[in-house]
Amino acid sequence: MKKIVVIHGPNLNLLGQRDSSVYGDLTLDDINVKIMDSSAQYGVDCEIVQFNSEVDIINKIQSLNKEIGLVINPAAYTHTSVAIRDAIEAITPPVIEVHLSNVHAREDFRHTSLTASVCKGQILGLGWHGYVLAMDYLMRDYLDRNGT
Ligand code: DQA
Repeated sequence: MKKIVVIHGPNLNLLGQRDSSVYGDLTLDDINVKIMDSSAQYGVDCEIVQFNSEVDIINKIQSLNKEIGLVINPAAYTHTSVAIRDAIEAITPPVIEVHLSNVHAREDFRHTSLTASVCKGQILGLGWHGYVLAMDYLMRDYLDRNGT
C-alpha cells in the first residue's frame, strides 16, 4: 500500500506541556490523530514516529525508498544537524519540512535551517495544520506524477 511517513524530532513528545503559547495545547497524540485522519481520507497508509535521538532519525530516513514522501519536523536538529541534512539529500522520496511555530519570529538561532535546502518545501508557523497541509501536498504531487 502507498505510504507517507511522518517523523517528529526531539522534545515533540512533550507537546501539550511544553510552552503552549508557542506550540499550542495539543499533545503529540492529538496531532497524530489529525494526521491519521488525513491519510485515511486519501486512502494511504501513514507511519508516524517520534525520536529524540539524531541516530534514530537518520536510520529512519535512510530506510525510505518507495514511499510517497516524508513529512519531517526535525525540531532542534533543524538548526544543527548536517547528518540529518545529508540523509534527506540521499533519499528519493520528496521531503517536506514542517515547524509548528514561526521560527523566523523567534530567537536568531532558529532562523537557520540546515535541512530546508534539501527538502522539497517547508511549512512553518501554522501549528498542527502544517502536517496536514504537507500530506495534502505530497498526495497531490504523487497523483500529478503517477495519475489517479
Ligand atoms: C520546532 C521549532 C524548533 O526551533 C524547536 O527546536 C522545536 C520545534 C517547531 O515545530 O516549531 O523543537 O521545530
